[in-house]
Order: sequence, then structure tokens, then C-alpha cells
Amino acid sequence: MVDHFWIARVIERVLERMPRVKLSVIEDVVAADGEARRLFIRWCEEGGCSVRVDQMGNIFARRAGRDPKLPSVMTGSHLDTQPTGGKFDGAYGVMAGLELVRTLNDLGYETEAPIEVVAWTNEEGSRFSPAMVGSGAFAGVFDLAEALGRPDNVTGITLGAELERIGFAGPEPVGGRPVAAYFEAHIEQGPILEAAGKPIGVVTGAQGQRWYEITVVGQEAHAGPTPMTRRRDALVGAARMIDAVNRIGHDNAPYACATVGFAQVFPNSRNTIPGRVFFTVDFRHPEDATLTAMDGALRAECQRIADQIGLQVEVKEFWYFPPTPFDKDCIAAVRGAVERAGYAHMDIISGAGHDAVYMARVAPTAMVFVPCENGISHNEVENARPEDLAAGCDVLLQAIVARANAAPAR
Ligand code: GLV
Ligand code: MN
Ligand code: MN
Repeated sequence: MVDHFWIARVIERVLERMPRVKLSVIEDVVAADGEARRLFIRWCEEGGCSVRVDQMGNIFARRAGRDPKLPSVMTGSHLDTQPTGGKFDGAYGVMAGLELVRTLNDLGYETEAPIEVVAWTNEEGSRFSPAMVGSGAFAGVFDLAEALGRPDNVTGITLGAELERIGFAGPEPVGGRPVAAYFEAHIEQGPILEAAGKPIGVVTGAQGQRWYEITVVGQEAHAGPTPMTRRRDALVGAARMIDAVNRIGHDNAPYACATVGFAQVFPNSRNTIPGRVFFTVDFRHPEDATLTAMDGALRAECQRIADQIGLQVEVKEFWYFPPTPFDKDCIAAVRGAVERAGYAHMDIISGAGHDAVYMARVAPTAMVFVPCENGISHNEVENARPEDLAAGCDVLLQAIVARANAAPAR
């Protein structure tokens, strides 16, 4: 009797504490998101910009141009991050936009078209998947209800509910207005520019991505009495599939990337044979045909491994965007700015996804990359040299001013 009472108390306490631990971490993250957004808005307003927030929580800070009827030239990136994210991924592009506004203010320089600095909601797709949801909704790739209804990967709380909680479910309609051009500055997040000794990458496009959700189902059974020959261990199957994902990446070298970054094991108990495993796959390649071949290899390998062990497997494609070339005039504006300023540079294709990928569907778009230390990103050690960050900002400013003063296309 005493034993049962004691066990019940322990279980009760664990259950009581578990959600509290989880929620307190999430609450800190959500509060930090709200604080960062409010700080950005304050700095923009101090820079003389008018600020609007749309129903996706995307924040637009507008610096007036001489002709208010012209569509604005837009720049920016995102303020959200990864669980182990550094301080430059996304934030650099937003701060570079703010810095160019402050520079134009200091010079008393008026552009023909307005300039808008944007902080997009949920670029990372880490807590709420997929990625680039704010810019995707702006570009009409996701409808608003679908985007706001994206659930947290662990708790199921929706993106829309969290935006409301921090006061950033704004009043403005999402997208549906012309943008003259979009330029985004970002750290490269890979090793190419640093190895080449070039402070500027002229980004000509982004590689394509395919994301999958894979569920492997076997049978829970006791870890002791169940002989090895009678097991349908979902985790053993998933482990072999994860190894296959890695092999598919190597088989399509040098450009393919293949990652499993999220996995859940059920029931996740030391002495129960796992009956179900859920994991995600992130495939990337600059050529669509290779992404398609990788897709075929993934499906064949998962089925072969499942059959070998007597498991069921569901391979669900969760998200896809094709390799995205950027606009040739915007690329030329970036290249022209780099050459005038005299920075060493090279053309580069983005390995990461960016809001620029979705903006390229609704506006002429290009990006500016600067190197990051040892090519490391999505890690708190992420670092970049101040002189490279300043060079990227300089190039962004020149490209945007040239575009904002160009005669509008008729
Ligand atoms: C965004 O960080 C990505 O996954 O490329
Ligand atoms: Mn980013
Ligand atoms: Mn990122």
C-alpha cells in the first residue's frame, strides 16, 4: 500500500514537472522573440521609419522615398533562430537593412522609391516546420490559415497562437502588393568564401530542398524475454534508414546534402523494444534531377530495410522547393556594387534556404553573402569578421540605392 502510494506520488510529481519544464523553456524563447521584435521596431522608429506588422507577424519598416507611389525596394531577413543558433544567421540581414537606413539618414540622402526593411516570421522552420513560412505566406506559397496553423513540433501549440501571445498577430494583410526588388544580406553559413579569401559572395541562386517525415512501425515487446529472431524493432529499422540517408548524400557528391536532424522514439523506454520511430529527412541539391534521383533512392532503401525486418514504413514528402535562380538584373546590381567598391568577390550558390527564395517568386531578387568563421552556423560559436560584415552592408546599400533610383519597369 505504502509502495503504491509512493510510486503514485513520484509519477504525479514527474508529470507535474515535465510540462512545466518544457513550457518554461518555450516561454523564455517566445518572450525573447517578442523582445527582439520590439527592440527592432524601436530602432526603426528612431531611424524615422514607419512600421507595420502583418497578420503573419512579418514586420515592415518603411523609409519614405521621393515618390510615394513607387513600390518599395525591400531588404531584410529573419530574427528567429535554431536551438543552438548563433547571433548572425538572419539577424545580420535585418541589422544590415537598419544600418543602411541609418547611413542614408546621416547623409540626408533621399531615394526615389521607398526602402523597406523586413523581419520575416519563422524563417528557420525549427519549432514550426517548414521553414520560410512568413515570406512564403507573403509570396502566396502558403495560405494564411495554413501558415498560422503550423503546430510546434513537440507541443502542438500553433504559430498563430504564439504570435497572438506576444502581440504580433498584426492587422495588415499578408502580401498582395508589388515589391520593386528584394535584396538579402546573410552570412554564407559554409566554408567557401573563407577558403577562397573573398569577403563577398554574389549569390546567383539557392539550391533546391526536399524535406520528408518518415514513420517506421514495428512492435513493442519486452527487452528481456523476446529473442533477437522474433523482434520487429522500429529503431533498428530507422537506424539503418538513417545510415541510408547519409549514404545517398555521399553517393551524390560533391553537391548533395542529406541530414536527419529530428527523431522521436516510442515509447522511449530502456527495456521496451521500440514500436515506432518518427524522423525527418532534409535533402538538398542545386539540380532538380539529382533531388529526384535522391528521392527515388530514399523510398527504395526505406522499403527494402522495412521488408528485411518486418516493419511498416511511411515516407511522406513534407516540403519541397526547386533550385531557385535569382534575377539577373539584381545579381548585376550586387556585382556592380562590389566592383565599384573594389572588394574581392566570387559567385556562389546558397546552400541554405532563405526568405529570398520565396521572395524571388514575387519580386526580382538577389543576395549578398559574407564569410563566417570556419564555415560554422546553426551553432553558438558562429562568428563573422566586423570588416566582412561592414563590406556586405556597403554592397547592400549600393545595390539598393541603385535600384531605388532606377526608373521603374513599365
Ligand atoms: C535555414 O536555416 C536552412 O535550413 O537552410
Ligand atoms: Mn538564415
Ligand atoms: Mn538558419
